[in-house]
Amino acid sequence: MRRTNQVLLRYCFLLSLLTITSFATNAEKISEIEQEDSEVWISLDSITASKLLSDQTELLKVQAANEHNSIRNLNELSQNISLLKLPESQITSLSKWMHDNEQRCGGFFYHESEDEAKAFIANSLLSSASNKRQFAYSIDNQFSVDALLTKISADNMASTVSDLSNFYSRYYARQSGYDSAIWLRDHWQSLASSRNDIQVSLFEHNNWLQPSVIATIAGTSKPDEIIVIGGHLDSINGFNPSANVAPGADDNASGIAVITETLRAIVAADYRPARTIQIIGYAAEEVGLRGSSEIASSYKEQNKNVIGVSQFDMTGYNGSNSTKIFFVNDYTDNAQTTFMTQLLEHYFPAIEFSFTQCGYACSDHASWNSQGFAASFPFEATFNQSNDLIHTSNDTHFDKEHATNFLKLSIAYVAELGKGQIGESEVASIQFETNALEIIEGTQATIEVERIGDTSESVTVSYHSLDGSAIGGLDYTAISGSLSWEANDSSNKAISLQVGQVNEEKHFVVELSSSSSSTNTGSYQQLVVTIKPQPESIDTLSRSSGGGPLTLWLFSTLLASGFIRRSDNR
Ligand code: BES
Ligand code: ZN
Repeated sequence: MRRTNQVLLRYCFLLSLLTITSFATNAEKISEIEQEDSEVWISLDSITASKLLSDQTELLKVQAANEHNSIRNLNELSQNISLLKLPESQITSLSKWMHDNEQRCGGFFYHESEDEAKAFIANSLLSSASNKRQFAYSIDNQFSVDALLTKISADNMASTVSDLSNFYSRYYARQSGYDSAIWLRDHWQSLASSRNDIQVSLFEHNNWLQPSVIATIAGTSKPDEIIVIGGHLDSINGFNPSANVAPGADDNASGIAVITETLRAIVAADYRPARTIQIIGYAAEEVGLRGSSEIASSYKEQNKNVIGVSQFDMTGYNGSNSTKIFFVNDYTDNAQTTFMTQLLEHYFPAIEFSFTQCGYACSDHASWNSQGFAASFPFEATFNQSNDLIHTSNDTHFDKEHATNFLKLSIAYVAELGKGQIGESEVASIQFETNALEIIEGTQATIEVERIGDTSESVTVSYHSLDGSAIGGLDYTAISGSLSWEANDSSNKAISLQVGQVNEEKHFVVELSSSSSSTNTGSYQQLVVTIKPQPESIDTLSRSSGGGPLTLWLFSTLLASGFIRRSDNR
């Protein structure tokens, strides 16, 4: 079974727009230049364009537009868009050709002039890059990526797809659509139950039953920076959306399977991201991107700092043979998409990729993109060669090997954008900044005490000095006391020391001891203090001039620079 009427319907809104545009343009032209069949331009994906070029009929003659190559050069990601020209009168034949050959109503954009066409392509491909701040992408977290990869399982993805497909339909307005979201929430919660840094919650939508589901893995050191991987959890049967069975295995249990297995691997590998990672199952995508649109605008409103978004929608159908991943290059962020291609080249050189276009806001990435966030969309095939059975009762097949390519990309994306490491970072601890300190006799010094790791609780530590060759009360002022930190306070605290005169180097120790159970004193819990006698000549000069540390500094600087010489001239 090829694409159904309903699937055709999906594309027809685009055709009606094009037809209206071309009608209006035609009417104007006729009034201006009588009887002239003017030339028009269309932009479309290059694969369809070359089919069209090789399949010319009397009724439909298209030509590659001039300077086709300069369009290609507009952006390296635009290589999949071609520009063609044809007489305006043939637009209807072109639509019919699209129907007959591409099972769609109008997967092309209509342009009145070549300049307008070029501007349109440049804009749609580059606009996303222009109004977003550039992020410094890097690839240097191989340790985490490798650890995560050892945990992934294609069979787990197959079982997620089967569990989700068993709901009669995940239609946004059905009880079973609601139930499927609750199932997903519970499933994610059970996968993450061993981690108290992972929360799973519902994002409720006021105007329909089905909630979105969000798992949040709190970032350890940059919790305010958010990375999103997501896909829609709803399904639809286009023939009768609210009544008919809609297994939605490829569209989009397959994307939910990828992000679910990413979550499971994160827990299994004990991966702790530096940035916050959110895994989102969007409600109500099939009825106009409604769930993601509410989420993206609420994030925008709250000024949330979303660094990047990757959409996984349809990963389980291998429609284009050797090329496995096609990056959608409209309504997406070019810089981030380029970063994702670099992740593939670096970690998975065997996974061949290319680019494709939907030609319209075809999935949830577009919701993020329209709020100004960097979104990318790695897809299962070219748009034209993608799964024909979506939105029908026959969307039941899932190629877990194909989906594994997307899972690997998801893992690398999360670990290289989220950074962080395997295992908890430093245990929560209080320690000296260093384990040794030299103090010149007769001076004062401060010792810095730092707090590292988890700061979620308040903590108090005590400190005291221990005599060595230096004796408290004689060679230095003995100390004891305590230092306290409130929850979330990670500032350094200072302890001051006063040492007296010595005639030779002497030592004593300052020691920390923790009073609360959850915070240790870290590796530097003892500090050895050395009291140094002042060098003789410096001693003499500073004492005779009554100079303090500034005089000392000036003197030693002059000494070092050769301006003055030591009196004993050794
Ligand atoms: N997964 C599809 C989008 C898709 C289909 C992308 C085929 C590439 C190839 C998505 O679930 C969907 O069906 N989107 C709707 C648009 C949405 C705004 C209702 C569509 O394509 O008609
Ligand atoms: Zn769909």
